[in-house]
Amino acid sequence: MSETLENLYSETRQFPPPAELAAAANVTAEAYEQAGADRLAYWEEQAKRLTWTKPWEQVLDWSNPPFAKWFVGGELNIAYNCVDRHVEAGNGDKVAIHWEGEPGDTRTITYSDLLKSVSQAANTLTELGVTAGDRVAIYLPMIPEAAVAMLACARIGALHSVVFGGFSVDALSTRIEDADAKLVITADGGYRRGKPSALKPTVDEAVAKCPSIEHVLVVRRTGEDVTWGEKDLWWHETVEQASTTHEPRSFDAEHPLFILYTSGTTGKPKGILHTTGGYLTQVSYTHSAVFDLKPETDVYWCTADIGWVTGHSYIVYGPLSNGATQVMYEGTPDTPHKGRFWEIVDKYKVTTLYTAPTLIRTMMKWGDDIPAKYDLSSLRILGSVGEPINPEAWMWYRANVGRDRCPIVDTWWQTETGGVMISPLPGVTSTKPGSAMTPLPGISADVVDDSAQSVPDGGGGFLVLSEPWPSMLRTIWGDDQRFIDTYWSRFGKGAGAGDDWIYFAGDGAKRDDDGALWLLGRVDDVMLVSGHNISTTEVESALVSHPSVAEAAVVGASDPTTGQAIVAFTIPRGNVDTDGAAGEQLIQDLRNHVAKKLGPIAKPRQIMLVAELPKTRSGKIMRRLLRDVADNRSLGDVTTLQDSTVMDLISSGMQAAK
Ligand code: WT7
Repeated sequence: MSETLENLYSETRQFPPPAELAAAANVTAEAYEQAGADRLAYWEEQAKRLTWTKPWEQVLDWSNPPFAKWFVGGELNIAYNCVDRHVEAGNGDKVAIHWEGEPGDTRTITYSDLLKSVSQAANTLTELGVTAGDRVAIYLPMIPEAAVAMLACARIGALHSVVFGGFSVDALSTRIEDADAKLVITADGGYRRGKPSALKPTVDEAVAKCPSIEHVLVVRRTGEDVTWGEKDLWWHETVEQASTTHEPRSFDAEHPLFILYTSGTTGKPKGILHTTGGYLTQVSYTHSAVFDLKPETDVYWCTADIGWVTGHSYIVYGPLSNGATQVMYEGTPDTPHKGRFWEIVDKYKVTTLYTAPTLIRTMMKWGDDIPAKYDLSSLRILGSVGEPINPEAWMWYRANVGRDRCPIVDTWWQTETGGVMISPLPGVTSTKPGSAMTPLPGISADVVDDSAQSVPDGGGGFLVLSEPWPSMLRTIWGDDQRFIDTYWSRFGKGAGAGDDWIYFAGDGAKRDDDGALWLLGRVDDVMLVSGHNISTTEVESALVSHPSVAEAAVVGASDPTTGQAIVAFTIPRGNVDTDGAAGEQLIQDLRNHVAKKLGPIAKPRQIMLVAELPKTRSGKIMRRLLRDVADNRSLGDVTTLQDSTVMDLISSGMQAAK
């Protein structure tokens, strides 16, 4: 990794926080000093944001690493912290969720409404025999019942396992089986791209394979016909008829809260296990710090799906524990038109928008004129998460959405970390386009070389987390050994070296001369070209910095002379002519452009102009499939692709180009 190209260092633009925002920020620069002086005391202070029924005796028990216990002996109820306490504090009439359905129907849910619904759902789950420690699968569209179902599980101490509503029968049934779930909460369907999209048939097939499921609780959303089996119960005939009062009971700080499966590139999905007190402490604190949340005046909107960890931590647990008012949107960004997001921002006067680079690049591709049509003056902070954000996309977001006023917080974290780990603080940090900047107060991250030595500023290597953090995963469900092998056995004590337990995140990173961190994607995505390590992210960023390019995906293909060669798949911007000779010329220009930006070694061997890229449903580019195409192999597993026809188009284009 030490030979990694250095183009990102040439990024010299820097944006200090707006003075007004800095003057009133929730967290100031002192936080870094305090946390640096006593990390555990700092987290102990943050835990006081929550209401505990029994105080903890010890902040961190790290006597059996890598199995951590945070806030040992403490007790609390998560749902009480996210709902009841706001009502008790007199904020029952405050809007918790402005829900916007894709067809344009809306619901306004106050904290009192939420308390009622969560209590009803908790009562129903209890009546159905669900008790503390049981597992409940949730397979729902982006409707308020998704949040209600999660909170109801948390309230009674059952673990939820949310499975993204776009996943197949196989994905759902393997997750139900692995967690041995007792109940599934689903809906007849949801709305996507202007039409109803059924969920119940998938559940029916999965449940037929999963004898552990005793009941299926079904929300009526689309009203379409469903097949009804003996395990099925309607939500409106059970939950909505149940008593609206429910006494929350306290759980140990380490009581398990949820399992969330991450697919990874190989092997069966990993059930990431999160627990109660440390998780809520970190997601509540980071939501307040990173977004500078002002619960009285902000309207927050995270565009993620509840099926991803972003939805868990920054739609449900973080914002609700902070008593925020938020927008929740059911559908796609281009239904019924490409300005839908901006219309929603304008309609609800959204102040804080948290979205993903893939969406930002899509919006870029659609053109500047679309956001320009809307009043976005309510916005004050913009967030990004999910993958490295290219400097050009960052600048586009800043100019066209933030209108050069709003700080951007590029937040690095993972399903495993539970909450944000590396991010600017909007009132403190001078940001650089494309960098997640520095670890948050209380977080210890480092960039190390092969032998676990910290690299000096200006160097590149592997991103590691060198101290435990409150919202860390506690294990992989049912597989402690895999937990140790996957995350702790590459560096430090877990690898038989050094005295410390070091968490390997799987990402490559660089630390520039100012100590800012640049995330370079998964280490599996680093190419070795004539002995040089080149990250796919860097070449993609170079391509996207060309005015004709909207999006790019880069892979290493095997090459007899250079070992690996760079192959790029590029989506031109909407107005660019790519027919015949114009297309050939553009390809030459792009190859030269990359060579100029990064050096001749990074010049792609081949550039394909394509209309779409293969993405997972969470928006990540599936480079594995592009590698198959580039190497002329038959395609591997395509079941998690958002749109499976994309690969046919790309493969046939590749053949034609040969
Ligand atoms: C992986 C984790 C965190 C919630 C959504 C994804 C990549 C995530 C960033 C960022 C660069 C990022 C990393 C990480 N990633 N955020 N701001 N900059 N890379 O959760 O599915 O568990 O994926 O996403 O590669 O390891 P996830």
